Amino acid sequence: MSDSSSNQMWGGRFAAGPDAIMEAINASIGFDQRLAAQDIAGSRAHAAMLAAQGIISDSDAEAIRKGLLTVLSEIETGEFRFSTALEDIHMNVEARLKEVIGAPAGRLHTGRSRNDQVATDFRLWVRDQLDAAESGLQALMRALLAQAEAGAAWVMPGFTHLQTAQPVTWGHHMMAYVEMFSRDLDRVRDARARMNQSPLGAAALAGTGFAIDRHMTAEALGFDRPMANSLDAVSARDFALEFLGVASISAMHLSRFAEELVIWSSAQFRFVTLSDRFSTGSSIMPQKKNPDAAELIRAKIGRIFGANVALMMVMKGLPLAYSKDMQEDKEQVFDAADNWMLALAAMEGMVGDMTANVPALEAAASAGFSTATDLADWLVRETGLPFREAHHVTGALVGLAERKDCDLPELTLAEMQQVHGAITRDVFDVLGVHNSVASRTSYGGTAPARVREQVAAWKEVLG
Ligand code: ARG
Repeated sequence: MSDSSSNQMWGGRFAAGPDAIMEAINASIGFDQRLAAQDIAGSRAHAAMLAAQGIISDSDAEAIRKGLLTVLSEIETGEFRFSTALEDIHMNVEARLKEVIGAPAGRLHTGRSRNDQVATDFRLWVRDQLDAAESGLQALMRALLAQAEAGAAWVMPGFTHLQTAQPVTWGHHMMAYVEMFSRDLDRVRDARARMNQSPLGAAALAGTGFAIDRHMTAEALGFDRPMANSLDAVSARDFALEFLGVASISAMHLSRFAEELVIWSSAQFRFVTLSDRFSTGSSIMPQKKNPDAAELIRAKIGRIFGANVALMMVMKGLPLAYSKDMQEDKEQVFDAADNWMLALAAMEGMVGDMTANVPALEAAASAGFSTATDLADWLVRETGLPFREAHHVTGALVGLAERKDCDLPELTLAEMQQVHGAITRDVFDVLGVHNSVASRTSYGGTAPARVREQVAAWKEVLG
């Protein structure tokens, strides 16, 4: 056998153990121990299949099964001592299995390689995260729906260029995010469906001469089918990239909403009050209540999209099949997943707890001549003016109100008629913000009636 200081897994042809720096750059156990449960699940499926195919004996398979459960419980209780010399989770588990059950442990690695093993473990881990993201997104959507239902008719300013544009309803604004997060949810489901194929049994890269049953292990691990090409199976990381892509888009959505909450909770806007549970104070300014959770959610896109870019750069230019570069996939995905889940949960908590300041929303909705478009539309409808001319007349009325330092509904009928003779008293009906939003009944529009339909439809979907 080899020198005692060489690696017990692959040290057969090596005379000495690795340099300390080599060990430091090579080892992944510091982070891939997060794959322990998946690694053991994969090994259990593999051992059961080897026995079913008559490749190992039933008694060895049983010893392996029991031993793996012992190792798993040692890891779960924190007794397990991870070793950097054993590089990664795969070799740490297998070495401990050997200590626990002896010789049969050496038969587990028949017809597989760490290359298909790590690809399998990582797919299982990412799949769990997609499932967690699905729950997190649904919970957030439910919190938004509750806000939308409560405030289907509350008016607030709608903005373009962050300038007051037209009045909208609070419920409509909340439902815009429900739509965005629902597309994230669709992307999560699409990604899951695409990635749910098993690499296990691809072995190092070329498959194996052992009569393994890849369909059996795929099924045992909840995969839809085995991956069809062994080279692809061990070298594909687009499932991880797709996860990061979906996470990045979702984090971008979270960041946009977080930015709105930061603005809305400011003393200048006062559209919402965030709960104490999701705010912090200042150590020097006693009056302050800071929207830290929203700010941190706003920032999370940085690391999540950063992970996406980092893994894309790791993968570009790698020839088939496995290269050690791919060990750099995990920390990026772990960090992005942790922070995406945290951001989803924090946003759900904040949305659930926040209180809209309805009078402030309504006052802001009325300011800034927000019903000028309604006035122009009225002129088109009631006086037959072409829209371009109506736009011009409305502009003159806005100018007049600006000079008088008042809002449009505060102009007198006489003042309006001086600008355009065909204007009648009825115009005042459309100048109020409630009438304005109630009139926008086109499909997808902001009218409370339309918002309530959307809320009802989504409640049906989300249960
Ligand atoms: N720790 C490795 C990784 O994360 C496992 C696969 C190692 N395979 C190999 N041929 N060295 O990628």
